[in-house]
Amino acid sequence: MPTTVFAHRGASKYAPENTLPAFELAYEMGAEGIETDVQLTKDNIPILIHDENIKRTTNGIGYVKNFTFAELQTLDAGSWFSKKYAQTKILSLERFLQWAKNKSLYLNIELKNNRIDYNGLETIVYDLVKDYQLLDRTTLSTFNRESVKRMKLLSKTIGVAFLTSKRNKNLVNDAKILGANAIHIKYRLLNRYLVDKAHQENMDIRVYTVNRFPSMYRCFKLNCDGIFTDVPDKAIHLKKEQGGLP
Ligand code: G3P
Ligand code: MG
Repeated sequence: MPTTVFAHRGASKYAPENTLPAFELAYEMGAEGIETDVQLTKDNIPILIHDENIKRTTNGIGYVKNFTFAELQTLDAGSWFSKKYAQTKILSLERFLQWAKNKSLYLNIELKNNRIDYNGLETIVYDLVKDYQLLDRTTLSTFNRESVKRMKLLSKTIGVAFLTSKRNKNLVNDAKILGANAIHIKYRLLNRYLVDKAHQENMDIRVYTVNRFPSMYRCFKLNCDGIFTDVPDKAIHLKKEQGGLP
């Protein structure tokens, strides 16, 4: 199977990460999947934002968990990136699923619960994806081991990936024991042995964040199942040029 190109936080090199313009752009560039990050508001609305704190990517300050969704909607989540994107709003997960519903895109929803273990986040996200009938093309992922276990309890069939940036000789088996059916690894952990081991165990292996041509080429060559890239245009270009490697 050729490597699936996921836009990491949307086409985040060109538009503010995790916003509708970044997702639209990724789709226009031919991305085959979208990766996005989810945190939970004070009133339990899942929203798309990478950090626990709103400071870096909005004109506000403080923790997501201390604001209601309505309060967060008053913020500008685009100007930090460029004036061109002034007044871009934070997106709810639900609005994102509505947008993705009629597009042929794979989805990777990363639960950002490794620093703040939001109560009930797994169920809230799972139920929404199920409501939108998107379970068959969605993978949920997290760095939080306990959360992988909780997700697997919700559904035997949902794709769940264990995310890691740490070296671990037993990574594939560890992830399997947690109940994951995929591993999402930082690029520096990638080697042929790990890819083969994952595939022997029927696990998918996807790699982040792959922005340079030689790294993309290596992922394609090693038969990785997916890459996450801030520059989906580059990855799609290379994939076409290589005739859908390997
Ligand atoms: O899901 C892959 C990647 O996004 C994990 O790291 O920090 O970019 O969310 P981060
Ligand atoms: Mg992420």
